[in-house]
Amino acid sequence: MNDNFLKACRGDKTDYTPVWIMRQAGRYLPEYRRVREKVDFLSLCKTPELAAEVTIQPIEILKVDAAILFSDILIPLEPMGIKLEFSESKGPIIHNPISSEADINNLRDFDPNGELPFISETIKLLRKSIKVPLIGFSGAPFTLATYMIEGGASKNFLKTKKIMYQSPECFSKLMESITTNTIKYLNSQIDAGVQALQIFDSWAGVLSPHDFSLYALPYVQKIIKELNNRVPIIYFAFNSSSMIDLVQTSGAQVIGIDWRIELSQAAEKLGNNASVQGNLDPCILFGTHELIQERILDILNGAKKARGHIFNLGHGILPETPVDNVIFMVEAVHQLSRA
Ligand code: CP3
Repeated sequence: MNDNFLKACRGDKTDYTPVWIMRQAGRYLPEYRRVREKVDFLSLCKTPELAAEVTIQPIEILKVDAAILFSDILIPLEPMGIKLEFSESKGPIIHNPISSEADINNLRDFDPNGELPFISETIKLLRKSIKVPLIGFSGAPFTLATYMIEGGASKNFLKTKKIMYQSPECFSKLMESITTNTIKYLNSQIDAGVQALQIFDSWAGVLSPHDFSLYALPYVQKIIKELNNRVPIIYFAFNSSSMIDLVQTSGAQVIGIDWRIELSQAAEKLGNNASVQGNLDPCILFGTHELIQERILDILNGAKKARGHIFNLGHGILPETPVDNVIFMVEAVHQLSRA
């Protein structure tokens, strides 16, 4: 068992800097595209043998130090009553977005094992066959709420913010409902065998620090507190480097950062409270090997002050990324951090 990733989460010494990549199972891999030719995205998520197969692909091809369960943050919205579609061209579409208090009252609490049995089955299959730690995940309540309200991608999140500012008690009811279900969902992933969790807050950065601490952060804090240190938790709030002082009060053992803050600066702020994960701009992977190596070195040097460091991109890998460069990156992180 390669446990460098788990050691870095806890801030223990590692043989080298562990690395994994957000969206590491995905369309940039020809092996993934081959599986996707036969099956749509939602069916792939719901078929344990196939979900396990694509989870394993990047471990074998890239030699990363952790696996992440193949699923999506929007999957648990379905058993809450949300009608979800993944369009090939437009991404996720929700056909019955939330627009009233009645919609919120109609949301259902769900039993993860009964209604999403493929999640624990995939986790169990993976734990039997892989030799790196398995990361489970969920969306953060605010990010999930934006999808439920906007119904898909959004420019200015006006529908979400209207509910937030015009009916704060409705918004908080929605957030409580998502939070309760997320706690059950993440506990069921741990019961099935995941060894760490990442909470994705992809849209936290559309909030001011004031509103982030009122409308988003308390629910993340509640989830992390309720999970009671059963496994290390990574909190990744995209586009939130100006709020890192708030983000670190989430209680997560690891804080994920994007490229908008120097890793050394984040490490200094986090001190002994948390390890840091990140933070290469995914677009650097379109540069030369020389450039990639140079930027890796900058990050590794910045991480010297960190309690622990897990190398990652600052956001998901892009579908157009050349696989050769990704393999080169993983190898370079391992070699340069051993030296
Ligand atoms: O490899 C992994 O990282 C694990 C699987 C995973 C996926 N999505 C698979 C996926 C994870 C952890 C996610 C998280 C996720 N999903 C987030 C948070 C991270 C982030 O990017 O900020 C969000 C916001 C979503 C919602 C989502 N899912 C969108 C907006 C899209 C469409 C955009 C896109 O990239 O196509 C998806 C689809 C999706 N989720 C794909 C994959 C591999 C592409 C689907 C395909 O095969 O066509």
